[in-house]
Formats: sequence, C-alpha cells, structure tokens
Amino acid sequence: MDTYAVIGNPVAHSKSPFIHARFAQQTGRIIHYTALLAPLDRFEQTVLDFRKTGGKGMNITVPFKFEAFTLASRLTDRASAARAVNTFRFEETGEILGDNTDGVGLICDIEVNLNFPLAGKRILLMGAGGAASGVILPLLQQQPDLLAIANRTPDKAVSLQRQFASYSNITTGHYHDFAGQHFDLIINATSASLHNELPPVPADLFRNAFAYDMLYSSRLTPFLELARVQGAGYLADGAGMLVEQAAESFLLWHGIRPETQTVIRQLRDNLRHPTS
Ligand code: ATR
Repeated sequence: MDTYAVIGNPVAHSKSPFIHARFAQQTGRIIHYTALLAPLDRFEQTVLDFRKTGGKGMNITVPFKFEAFTLASRLTDRASAARAVNTFRFEETGEILGDNTDGVGLICDIEVNLNFPLAGKRILLMGAGGAASGVILPLLQQQPDLLAIANRTPDKAVSLQRQFASYSNITTGHYHDFAGQHFDLIINATSASLHNELPPVPADLFRNAFAYDMLYSSRLTPFLELARVQGAGYLADGAGMLVEQAAESFLLWHGIRPETQTVIRQLRDNLRHPTS
C-alpha cells in the first residue's frame, strides 16, 4: 500500500489524514496517510527516513515549509515563486519534487467556494512567514487593486515585497501603519492563533471587510472573533482552503482531483464532533 504523511511540529491537530482518507474513499484508491511529528532540529532526517520506508509523498506544515523548500531537489514554478513548499512527491529517480498548493487552495476557496472575486479589491495580508509567502503570487495574479502586507517585524514584509518587485501594487508596514485605511479583504497568515494570541490590529480595521483566517477551528478563531467585534461584513476560516490545497496535492500524487464540497462539509462536521 502506498504511504503518505503530513509532517509538522505540532502535528497531532492536523486534519490532513482525515481529508486524504475521504479523497481515497471517493476515488477508490487504497492509501495509508498518517501524521508525522518531526523534532524541530530533525526535519530532513525524518523526511529521508520516511522515504526509506517506502513513503511516496508528504504534506509539510508549520514550521517546516522553508526547510522543505531547501530540501526539494526539483521545484514546480509555484513553489519557486513562493520559496516555500507544502507538498513533496518522492520520484522513482530519487528526486524530491517540491510543490506549493497553498496559494491555489486559498484562491479556489475565496473565489469559487465563497464567490468573492479578487480583481480590483484592496487586500491586507497579515504575516510574512511561510504561510504568507506561499499565497502572495497567486493573490497578485488575481489583479487586486492593492496588496498590503502587515507584519510585526516589518523588515520581513519588505523582503517579500522585494521578491515580487515586478508588481507595483504592494505596500508593507507594521499593523499600526494601516490604521484608518479600508480593505475589502483581510487575510490572517500569521501563526498567532496557534499560541492563542492576536496580531496588534488597529481599531476599526475590519469594518465591513471580509475577514479570512487561514487557520481553522471548531469555533471562531481569536482573529475572526476580533473581526466580528470590529464589524466585519463576512467571516471565513481556512477549512475550505485546507481541503482545496489537499485536493491539489492529491492531484499531484494520483493524477485525479477529488470533489471537494462534500469533504469540506465532512470536515466541518468532524471539527464540531471530532469522532464523526
Ligand atoms: P508560518 O510558516 O506559519 O508562516 P512562520 O514562518 O514562523 O510560520 O511565520 C509566522 C508569522 O506569524 C510571522 O509573520 C510572525 O510575525 P514575525 O515575523 O514578526 O515574527 C507572525 N506571528 C506569530 N505570532 C504573532 C503574534 N503574536 N502577533 C503577530 N504576529 C505573529
């Protein structure tokens, strides 16, 4: 049986095994997909050990997406642009193909599932780590009016801006630099919620905006709760994105893109009732 895994630290909370089991059922594939905890200083060794035991592919999650980018011996165009990798395919030749399906997952969820076209919109992206870096090019390709990147450490946002220097519609800054500005869409790509914290968002930033948290939870994340209190017009968490990026990884491994709507519903049920 072909084996796959999601690797991260922490990883026990990951819903990727749940999602891939549903995809396998739906498409009649027999696969084994597990969650693999890597020690923070042993990412590479853990990946290579997994491959040695016959592993065919992996998803990579926090905090290893940059290390995965370095470890891949070949990259898809979208992974090169993102400089972050969330999917490995172990080739027969011994090569490790690195891909990044986060961006397409996010765009598909926002534009198709949630019916919110991004062209001409003012977007604020919070965070400048691996998660943010993976979605910048796909967001820019939808031709928004503006993509602002806010980060606690503004220098990191500036270096992302340099990476995409051919686009003139990017601005960067600390959170307070965006006080008083209006955005149509505000995306949380920070890992703050994982520590039950919040980015230092100025008052009124969310008014009438669409707030999207790339993380997901059985209830409102702290980010979405703040957005609600500040008067956001619409709230969405990252459950849809998670399923869509997983479908793209499944396509890379198995040559078929599973149907996602049913699995998004099943994931939401599972988040509410974890034994379902
Ligand atoms: P990931 O791969 O999930 O993006 P990462 O590369 O470690 O993880 O990046 C984490 C991001 O969350 C960074 O943008 C980080 O801000 P800094 O660059 O200033 O560290 C952001 N972040 C984490 N905790 C935060 C908090 N409490 N408030 C604001 N931003 C936070």
